[in-house]
Order: sequence, then structure tokens, then C-alpha cells
Amino acid sequence: MTITYPDPFKIVVTDPGVYAPQHDSRLLIEALQKTNLAPGRHVLDLCTGSGVVAVAAAQLGALSVTAIDICPRAVRCARANAASAGVRVNVEMGSLTDEPARGSFDVVLGNPPYVPTGPEAAGTEKIPLETGPAWAWNAGDDGRLVLDPLCAAAPGLLTDGGTMLIVQSEFSGVEQSLRDLRSRGLCAEILMWQWVPFGPVLSARAQWLERVGRLEERRREEELVVIRADKAT
Ligand SMILES: C[S@@+](CC[C@H](N)C(=O)[O-])C[C@H]1O[C@@H](n2cnc3c(N)ncnc32)[C@H](O)[C@@H]1O
Repeated sequence: MTITYPDPFKIVVTDPGVYAPQHDSRLLIEALQKTNLAPGRHVLDLCTGSGVVAVAAAQLGALSVTAIDICPRAVRCARANAASAGVRVNVEMGSLTDEPARGSFDVVLGNPPYVPTGPEAAGTEKIPLETGPAWAWNAGDDGRLVLDPLCAAAPGLLTDGGTMLIVQSEFSGVEQSLRDLRSRGLCAEILMWQWVPFGPVLSARAQWLERVGRLEERRREEELVVIRADKAT
């Protein structure tokens, strides 16, 4: 018998202080569905925001779901969304760099901030409030401010045989993530990718990216990828 669950995108609500689920959130959830990794597993959702990915993991049959975020507003929002969805998610406030102390997980999911942050971020950008707070996307000049510690933490977070799925943009060093994860003994590959139109943040940074030679003129689409990293048994 196939059980169908309500689309977490239709359940989850956010406020201007929390990242509104977008293409990256949906791609990560699709990857979780495609790989069928959730059923019966202990899942950790890093950078949970509204909790949309954590809710999906619980709906897909995870044995337990832990979700963390550095932002207290996101923590409250994710708790409320899990309650509305009628699923159990243990939402805690914390940084992913605290995680190694928390034990090991069969599945680790992450949609971290990964947007390169140019000089416009200093205050001249016009980004609609509903997009969420700057700390949900700003990730330093190379977009790796959170991705680097996330890759470094991966082996310590995963059980033997465990899997991490992370989503990131082409603009934040996909090859670097793959190299980093492999150098830590994980088997890493690109699992899924999708071209999506620029959202409000990249639109505001497009001219800077063009100026510094990281974007072809007039291109206004980015490639998102989901990386799968497996720890040996
Ligand atoms: C791109 S949003 C993703 C939200 C949600 N997982 C989704 O897919 O829609 C990134 C989230 O990471 C959180 N965050 C930023 N730095 C963090 C860190 N060092 N540790 C944990 N969470 C972090 C932000 O508060 C934000 O909620």
C-alpha cells in the first residue's frame, strides 16, 4: 500500500525572519525521496530554517529526526511546522560545528547558506523581506563559509554506512566540496542537479558576479546540485 503525505511545502509557514523554502529546499527533499534513505533511519537536518526538510524526512518514515539551526526564530518556526504537520522532530538551537558532540546519524541533510557575498551586501542591495534573513544565504566571498565546516564535520556526524546529502550552488565550489569530502574518506558524487532562475539574492548580486568574471553576461540562471557522500561500513 502506498501512503501519500501532504506536501510539506503546503504545510510549512514562515515569517520574514526565516528562510522561505525555495528550489534548493525542494531539490534536497526530492533527493531524499529518490534515494529512499529516510525510512527507519536516524536523520539530522542541519540548517533547518522552517523545518521543511526535517518534516519531509519524518513524513518519509525516519525513525528519528533531529533538526538544528543557529537562529532562534527558525527553531520556533520549525517546531511549529512539525507540530502542524503532525510529525515528531527534535528541533534544537545550535551550530553545525557543535554537532560532533551530538552522536552519529544514519542520514545527514543540509541546505546551508552558500551564496557568495559581494560588496553590495554591505547595504545597497534590495532584497525583499519575505526572502528571509541574510544569515540564511550569505556565505562569504566564495560561498563556503558554512559549506567548509559542514564538509569537515560530515565524517564525525555519520554512522558507518551513513549518507550525507547537501545542496549547493555552482557558485560555491561544487568540485571543492567533492574534493574535501573525498579527502576525508567519504565516497562523494553529484546525485542530482537542476537549473533554476535566479532568486532575489543572486539577482541582486548578478552584476558583481559578472564584474568579477564568475558569471557570463546576462545569464540569470544557476545550477543547483545535490551532493551525496557515503561513509564506508
Ligand atoms: C538556506 S536556509 C535553509 C533552510 C531550510 N533547510 C530549507 O531547505 O528551506 C539556511 C539556514 O541555515 C541556518 N544557518 C546558518 N548558519 C548556520 C550554522 N552555522 N549552523 C546551523 N544553522 C545555520 C540559517 O539560520 C538558515 O535557517
